[in-house]
Amino acid sequence: MKEIARRARSEQRIIGFVPTMGALHAGHLSLVAYAMQNCDPVFTSIFVNPKQFGPQEDFAKYPRTTEPDAAKFGAARVAALFLPEVAEMYPPGFSTSVNVEGLSDRLEGRTRPGHFRGVTTVVLKLFEIVQPHFAYFGRKDAQQARLIAIMARDLNLDTQIVLGSIVREEDGLAMSSRNAYLRPEERKAAAVLHRALEAARDALRAGERDALQLQQLLRRIIESEPLARIDYAEIVDEQSFEPVVRVARPCYALLAVYLGQTRLIDNMLIAPATDDAHELTFDL
Ligand code: PAJ
Repeated sequence: MKEIARRARSEQRIIGFVPTMGALHAGHLSLVAYAMQNCDPVFTSIFVNPKQFGPQEDFAKYPRTTEPDAAKFGAARVAALFLPEVAEMYPPGFSTSVNVEGLSDRLEGRTRPGHFRGVTTVVLKLFEIVQPHFAYFGRKDAQQARLIAIMARDLNLDTQIVLGSIVREEDGLAMSSRNAYLRPEERKAAAVLHRALEAARDALRAGERDALQLQQLLRRIIESEPLARIDYAEIVDEQSFEPVVRVARPCYALLAVYLGQTRLIDNMLIAPATDDAHELTFDL
């Protein structure tokens, strides 16, 4: 992979990269399509990274569907699929890690200690191997994407981080490899996440600026679904991921919700109306 990447770099070509853990769905493929618009070649990887799974998490049962995944990447005309073995990425004696301090321990990191250290470590390794000019990440994992962008900035990486929007099922459920774990009744109930996010967005549009009110609205809607159990439901600043009191700038409404044993995350970027003067006139 390094040789292929080096050759592309020496030929002055623009390398795009979409790293994944496989079990591909339309969300992954939308990132490939995005990369294809700006880069040639586009490289991808599939690596179920043990370092980003906690001891009680689903590393062993994470879906592995390499053959159909390779066919999908092939059909999308990616130039190379990097498929390393665990022993290749983490040989005996492997002892280095990368951690973005602070934000890695909040939100997802609170429930999943060490998760983001595993993510940033593997992503830096993948960047060193694939040497991308542009790397594409989904907003579905908004905190992950932000942490990777911080890492790239802090370590002066030669890779620009590009964010793609969330691809959803017809009922609004964000596509995820983990949706396959949901039992039929849980799958139906899972649509409540997107309904809650839409309600928060609509309330903001209607003039509600109090983040606590928006957060309580998220909670109320999710709690109305008996199969759902909230891990967190927060309104945070789009850049810092710090909690906000009043929504005056773009924010993420962030959700982590259990449906049975399955933990789902979702979010929506929400912003107050840009034309507040108009809104005020309207209110009067
Ligand atoms: P994975 O969960 O396979 O996701 C790979 C990429 O696809 C991530 O950037 C993720 O945000 C994006 N993605 C997932 N679902 C999406 C959706 N519904 N819409 C848009 N994009 C979506 O995220 C990882 O793998 C790993 O942590 C990785 C970055 C590969 C490091 O191991």
